[in-house]
Amino acid sequence: MRKVFVTALVLVLAAASCSFADGVKIGAGIYRFNDAFMLRFRNAMSAESEKAGAKIDIADGRDDQPTQDAQIDEFIAGGVNVLIVNLVDRMAAQETIDKAKSADIPVVFINREPPLEVLNTYGKAYYVGAKAEESGIFSGQLIVDYFKSHPEADKNHDGKLQFVLLKGQNGHQDMILRSKYSVETIRDAEIEPVELASAIANWDKLEAMKIMNAFIMSIGPENIEAVIANNDEMALGAVEALKAQDYNKGDPSMYIPVVGVDANASALEAMDRGEMLGTVLNDADGQGSAAVKLAVSLAQGKDVSGEVTDGKYIWVPYQKVTRGEK
Ligand code: BGC
Ligand code: CA
Repeated sequence: MRKVFVTALVLVLAAASCSFADGVKIGAGIYRFNDAFMLRFRNAMSAESEKAGAKIDIADGRDDQPTQDAQIDEFIAGGVNVLIVNLVDRMAAQETIDKAKSADIPVVFINREPPLEVLNTYGKAYYVGAKAEESGIFSGQLIVDYFKSHPEADKNHDGKLQFVLLKGQNGHQDMILRSKYSVETIRDAEIEPVELASAIANWDKLEAMKIMNAFIMSIGPENIEAVIANNDEMALGAVEALKAQDYNKGDPSMYIPVVGVDANASALEAMDRGEMLGTVLNDADGQGSAAVKLAVSLAQGKDVSGEVTDGKYIWVPYQKVTRGEK
């Protein structure tokens, strides 16, 4: 009699712990919802959470770190089992880590990479993302391939490549390393890069359009041999500004190669229309699902050492994307 009771109790407990695992609660903070790439990322996280049977709450940090900090506090007070955080300011990671640590819950950072020494202050802090320098190298290669196969791209016949650069938000690892490695890759291919102008357009299409318009006015479109943008939205803003001057509308003598990063649908469509040269796939689906899977495993107390690199990281590769000749 007693034995039957014990067995039944064990079964009830097992069932309870199993439904706890299924019902992992994730609190996710996104730096701002109004970002085409992060929208893809959010959709991927929601889809993976649903698949895993986890509950995810996603908050819009509205590009303001104090707003996001308050959202993290609310998640913790509401009893989430794990955090996924796309910091507004990646240098503010310590505060989030300290909060996660005192609540004893794991935290998975995404897209905006905290410094390693900060990640190292907490055993349950991780980063899921893509290697920024890799995207810079790929966008440089897109330009190099085009330049080498199109002698007419050297408009002033000086053997050098006169370009303009549109950069993402200041301090973002993707802004710093994409800018650096795209240009270095051109130099490594033995084409001297000449920066005619560069400006921060904050990942934003409209800002980039205005800046590109100013560049066109001051430099003259005939003197620009390439546009390198740290993401697709800014590349598309540049394309808009060029089209307003009848560039990139089909006349081969009025064309400037424009490259971006992300492979958002709108950029792929612009490439299909011949308005944009190429992009680099920033795998939102891969990163979003990896982040959720890792978060769920961590919340369940599983050993993740086999899934992460250097004890802290999951890296999702970039891929070059072109559309062939038009
Ligand atoms: C993407 C950008 C995006 C940014 C947000 C980057 O990895 O390429 O499109 O705006 O992340 O942090
Ligand atoms: Ca030239």
